[in-house]
Amino acid sequence: MSNNYIKIDTLNTSLLFGVYDKQVEKLYYGERIPDAPEYSVYRMKRRQSHPSVDDVVRKNDIISYFGQGNSRQFLVELEDEDGCHNLQFELESVKQIEGAAVDIKGLPYAHGKTKTVVFEFRDKVGGLSLFARYSAFDDCDAICVSHAIKNNSKKPYVIKRFMSMQLDIDETGHELTYYDGAWARERQCKKIKLDSGVFFTGSSSGFSSNRYNPFWMLKTSYGGYYATNLLYSGNHKEIAEALPIGLTRIMTGINDERFAWKLEPKETFDTPEAVMAYGESQESITTNMHVFVKNHILRGAFKEKPRPIVLNSWEAMYYDFTKERLLELAKVASEVGVEMFVLDDGWFGGRDCDDRALGDWTDNPKKTGGLKDLSGELHAMGLQFGLWFEPEMISPDSDLYRKHPEFVLRGKRSPVVTRSQLVMDLVNPKVADYIVSALDKIIVEANVDFIKWDCNRVMTDVYSKFSRGGEYAHRYILALYNILERITSAHPHVLFESCAGGGSRYDLGLLAYMPQVWTSDNTDCADRLLIQEGTLVAYPPCTLSAHVSICPNYQTSRTTNIAARFNVATAGVLGYEYDLTKCSKEEKQVIGEQIAFYKKHRDTFQYGDYFLIESAFDTTKPSWIKVAKDKSFAIAVIVRVNEAINRERGKYRLRGLCDDANYKVTVKDKDTTFAASGKILNSYGLDLTGLFGYDALFEPVSLMLIIERE
Ligand code: DGJ
Repeated sequence: MSNNYIKIDTLNTSLLFGVYDKQVEKLYYGERIPDAPEYSVYRMKRRQSHPSVDDVVRKNDIISYFGQGNSRQFLVELEDEDGCHNLQFELESVKQIEGAAVDIKGLPYAHGKTKTVVFEFRDKVGGLSLFARYSAFDDCDAICVSHAIKNNSKKPYVIKRFMSMQLDIDETGHELTYYDGAWARERQCKKIKLDSGVFFTGSSSGFSSNRYNPFWMLKTSYGGYYATNLLYSGNHKEIAEALPIGLTRIMTGINDERFAWKLEPKETFDTPEAVMAYGESQESITTNMHVFVKNHILRGAFKEKPRPIVLNSWEAMYYDFTKERLLELAKVASEVGVEMFVLDDGWFGGRDCDDRALGDWTDNPKKTGGLKDLSGELHAMGLQFGLWFEPEMISPDSDLYRKHPEFVLRGKRSPVVTRSQLVMDLVNPKVADYIVSALDKIIVEANVDFIKWDCNRVMTDVYSKFSRGGEYAHRYILALYNILERITSAHPHVLFESCAGGGSRYDLGLLAYMPQVWTSDNTDCADRLLIQEGTLVAYPPCTLSAHVSICPNYQTSRTTNIAARFNVATAGVLGYEYDLTKCSKEEKQVIGEQIAFYKKHRDTFQYGDYFLIESAFDTTKPSWIKVAKDKSFAIAVIVRVNEAINRERGKYRLRGLCDDANYKVTVKDKDTTFAASGKILNSYGLDLTGLFGYDALFEPVSLMLIIERE
């Protein structure tokens, strides 16, 4: 802090605060600025609003609430016992701490912080303390922000809104990019210009959802990008307010729809952490988000470990399997080089189809031949053993439901049943204990190495005797995190993959417990180009589970060639959803070669630096490259899809290579190699037209380039 200025630096960015009249303003957030004795240039004079008709414009304040002239979207809204919403917070103290300021109780948070600034504001009349916490890291340009409120008074309050992050940005007319979707069509890139008004995305389905991912990116009208994301898996909301006087405010946090949290005397409420980043391009935002997730969100034994190549039984057999069929499939899988056999839905209770038995987490030996034996035989074949669970759900037709109808989240009316299932009342401690012990028992007995944790419906009928209605959705997520903490810490050697009807819960909260995600139930490689790109913008390849599946595709009926299916799946953690027992000898050979190739370059595929070359959302030639840390090796995937006939395709400019180095480029499966400098590959571009042969109009065709430094 110099005088009344506080500056937080990351690798390439700075966030500068100024303290004026017991308020704190954000003076600057952007490209890194040098230390200076004072920074008055960043704030000449506070603009005065028109005395009679304009709102009082509290430009750049880091907190906002009703009262004291605020009338924009608020960070926090509280109601006291008399129904009064007015607040008046003044700065009480500023602390600068090495490392993290707080352990945010019950919520996942980013680890490895190097520096945290904590502002404490007090509302003296109301007896409230509000804490705003900003933390930086030394290896990326991410800044984590969270807030807490403490009730020092003798009366309760109700928190009606409490966002995790607020940032005022100069001017309006910025372009917002967000990622929306639906089942089998997750994270589709959308853009909107923020000229005037309030725009928001979010989820009120109880989960982070496929509808709108919590990640946002704002390209300012004067250059530069601001991105935000939230470490949370429940109802979230992202707000952008563009004011006609020329100011934009962005916020992210828990969705305030139906949120009402009673804050008793002496209690504190913590928001989830948000992360924000500034970069000069979309590419720098992606790079930063990837480093942030890899270094500060993922934890445990699998944080940096090579992820196994999975064969998942779902699209191969669905519910129709016996031990013999599973072992037959596993045998071929091990022959082609698969490392993990995952038995998906259908192995427990009376589960022969999706209308029964969720919650009955006991082995069905008629189908599995005994999980313990099955696991033993798989391990003897050199395969690891994975198992599917959907722990948060219950079927009305299940032994568990018949015994414990009170385990269901049902509100005061009959709950709606979807996919023949209901949501378990996780806030009931007995339900949480049941889930932990049921999974624990199977993990130990069947020597399980991998768990796919599914969640196939949204939360409705939200009410339980264990929580007030307006608190329930958040308490559910806290209970879920607690269950995950208990299970993952008891079984640190088990790799967890989260799934929610495909990629309906791709968020930073769950990634803190489960380091990879089943990206989508749509395994069609043409559709995956979009889904995966919309995911990789904010989440690194080692989190993205991508499987090669049969043709015609189960979801889209499209037929594609196996090379393209493989090339597209190498964008993430490779696996197969495939009845390999039905493959021809030639097909098995191709799959075996694919797996061997992936294993050889696994580190690059899973942990290499990812750069987008051409976007699937904007062009017919989606492509990307993964580059080793030292830039000595890279693999690029170039795809063409839905292309117009007889049209020049232009050149491909690769990314991330070292300009001064010379590289040898080998086109996989084609008899072509050539040499070029990094500068040529990065800047002048490659004409690959001839290598594709004739135009393919709809079916994706692809090339893989292996790039080695000479
Ligand atoms: C939805 C998942 O996304 C699928 O991969 C599969 O596990 C099914 N659930 C099983 O019911």
